[in-house]
Amino acid sequence: MSYQAHFKVWRGDADGGGLAGFDVTVNEGEVVLDIIHRLQATAAPDLAVRWNCKAGKCGSCSAEINGRPRLMCMTRMSVFDPAETITVTPMRAFPVVRDLVTDVSYNYAKAREVASFVPPPGVGPGEYRMRQQDVDRVQEFRKCIECFLCQNTCHVVRDHEENKPAFAGPRFLMRVAELDMHPLDAAAETGVDRKAAARAEHGLGYCNITKCCTEVCPEQIKITDNALIPLKERVVDRSYDPLVWLGNKIRRR
Ligand code: SF4
Ligand code: F3S
Ligand code: FES
Repeated sequence: MSYQAHFKVWRGDADGGGLAGFDVTVNEGEVVLDIIHRLQATAAPDLAVRWNCKAGKCGSCSAEINGRPRLMCMTRMSVFDPAETITVTPMRAFPVVRDLVTDVSYNYAKAREVASFVPPPGVGPGEYRMRQQDVDRVQEFRKCIECFLCQNTCHVVRDHEENKPAFAGPRFLMRVAELDMHPLDAAAETGVDRKAAARAEHGLGYCNITKCCTEVCPEQIKITDNALIPLKERVVDRSYDPLVWLGNKIRRR
């Protein structure tokens, strides 16, 4: 069954903009991205939107729907009351390029700051062996589709642009946690100290475990409980381990 919905969509660019109102047809089974496409095909042919897969897998169609960060292709119209006005705005933590498209290059810069996995010496591809529980733990983090909704939601950068240089955000702290927990990562042998970097270079201390990142993750990754809190524990354990403390003291002499 079809009905007419009222949409408000943010239109503008880096210099400013505002909400534009549209009445648009909604058909049974449609998602918010279908409605945005219908607007492009009818009332707003130059409406800018980024998308690719329409299957919740490419992470491109992130936006804010009625103020909540979500994937437009995975938000069913049936979750809204047909009489409700649906407001679609670009992700707030990143600069607007045009309409619903934001410049997410902050995230790529943060990705580049995380030192890569270093293969264990003397072990060739196909010879890696890990316990199943280590594989399972890492695989949860590998479900990430890089939609950056968690990065957009975390209050450390959402409300504080000035924190961006010092804070990698939940997605990339999760990557540091994944590598630090990886039993075969040999980065330490190349001089990379992942725990020290988590604190000094990636801003782990800025995270006060509010869990907003976890709440918006479309892959239901338990970012806070399974990555950030364990990483904090590993960093603290090392800092307050009496043997490490003594070692550092001796080394400083
Ligand atoms: Fe998106 Fe979740 Fe990955 Fe964050 S962790 S970028 S919310 S899929
Ligand atoms: Fe931000 Fe998630 Fe920590 S929302 S404060 S990174 S728990
Ligand atoms: Fe790919 Fe929405 S279009 S996740």
